[in-house]
Amino acid sequence: MSNYLGISAGFHDAGVSVVNSNGDILFAAHAERYSKKKNDPMLNTAIINEALSYGSLKQIAWYEKPWLKKTRQLYSGEYSRAFSLRDLPKQQLASLGYKFTGPIKCHKHHLSHAAAGFQTSLFDEAIVVVVDAIGEWDTYTAWLADYDKNGYARYKRIMRQHYPHSLGLFYSAMTKRAGLKPLEEEYILMGMAAYGKNIWYKKMYNEFVDKDIKQTWRKNLHIGVDKHWLNGALNEDIATATQSITEHCLAIMMTQLHETYSGIKNCVFMGGVALNCVANSHLRQLWDNVWIMPNPGDCGSSLGAAALSYGKRLNWQGPYLGTDIPGEYPCEEIISELLNNKIVGVASGRAEFGPRALGNRSLLADPRELDIKDKVNAIKRRQNFRPFAPMILIEFLDRHFEAQHIALPMVSERQPAPLIKLPGKLIPSKLGESSFMQYVFECKQPDLFPAIVHVDNSSRVQTVSKNDKTGARKLLEMWYTLTNCPMLLNTSLNIRGEPIVNDRADADRFEKKYGVKVCS
Ligand SMILES: [Fe+2]
Repeated sequence: MSNYLGISAGFHDAGVSVVNSNGDILFAAHAERYSKKKNDPMLNTAIINEALSYGSLKQIAWYEKPWLKKTRQLYSGEYSRAFSLRDLPKQQLASLGYKFTGPIKCHKHHLSHAAAGFQTSLFDEAIVVVVDAIGEWDTYTAWLADYDKNGYARYKRIMRQHYPHSLGLFYSAMTKRAGLKPLEEEYILMGMAAYGKNIWYKKMYNEFVDKDIKQTWRKNLHIGVDKHWLNGALNEDIATATQSITEHCLAIMMTQLHETYSGIKNCVFMGGVALNCVANSHLRQLWDNVWIMPNPGDCGSSLGAAALSYGKRLNWQGPYLGTDIPGEYPCEEIISELLNNKIVGVASGRAEFGPRALGNRSLLADPRELDIKDKVNAIKRRQNFRPFAPMILIEFLDRHFEAQHIALPMVSERQPAPLIKLPGKLIPSKLGESSFMQYVFECKQPDLFPAIVHVDNSSRVQTVSKNDKTGARKLLEMWYTLTNCPMLLNTSLNIRGEPIVNDRADADRFEKKYGVKVCS
């Protein structure tokens, strides 16, 4: 049996995925975890070799059309990139000493995003929404997706916006203006938004947004805004207005699609903007079912490209698809460290595919301790204002969080702004799930769990379901029996600016350098 090797590389956060001819996902990982360069755009020999260890290849599936991308690069004045041949698929692979003689199939960027979402979902049909910074030309697309009678996925594009009109580029431009790193630290801007006042909304909206219904923008924000733009404004206030406009634009897009295709109950949301868990929490009010694959950005599109080449629904078993650290999940050892030292690392089983650690490459802590947030932030070299996320046994979600309805108003609704309001209906209880930290909930007892609650009382929750077979479930059950607390603080096992720990050698380095035990 031979495999499809999906590749996303050359822009940022390169990744590879291996899918066999039964649709099993054998391997999926980020290049940065091997090269140790955060968001590394380039492939490396180590990740390719690990992918090839799963068997011979019948096809390489590339996540975008390089020549089409070059036409956009010419248009946007990126001449050195447009005329370079080094970023073409064969050349990138040859630079690693890997000569693949078989076919390389290039799929469109947004279609790869769409397939990574739809073909890992359980839906037979869905509206698939993709929002990112830029594909080849595309910045926002929506697709009507289903399967034909032979089980092959079909995609009909029903909405499109293209460069330079881009909600993703707007968010990245404001990330840069707020002193953060664009295309990397957008999630920090999202967290910062809870601290600001929504005083710049109108100015920002009037200056940049043209027609929100069509997602046309007045300015090309590809290279950001002038550093003196809105001189004197607080970064927190810029963050609030940015988040507010983003929520508004997404709400407009989704509401329009929901009304036009009212017979379809399922939504798949993909692209880098789908990592905005605050906005996601409001969007799912519209649909009966929402699926956001845990790696919706470009790295995840390596899986989408492989899915398109394979053609049918993938056998999605969960996000634990990367390098394996074999052995039983070390529950006893973790509990012992938590009881004695309150903070512990874990590196066990297969690494998560996606930017969030979900229990296999995690730094865990007791969320009830008053000073634990500062201690973990100090270990991770993070800004003190940033909160941490909890993982919780799902049967206790209602006890500690407003899980049955959206309790938090949209950022934009917290202060007067000329925005639409989402219907605010109850969420079906099954959608209280947030297995991959895609959503935020309001904490009912913020005083009891200071380490995992943001300044607006929200928490980005990872729910661990009853039928979860991972070590995290067993660990939380043991922790609850001992402490009557059904949750743990869970953050990724890395420090700011570095990739998450991948193998045991990385874990040993982390343990030695930062003085925190890492259990395997
Ligand atoms: Fe993308």
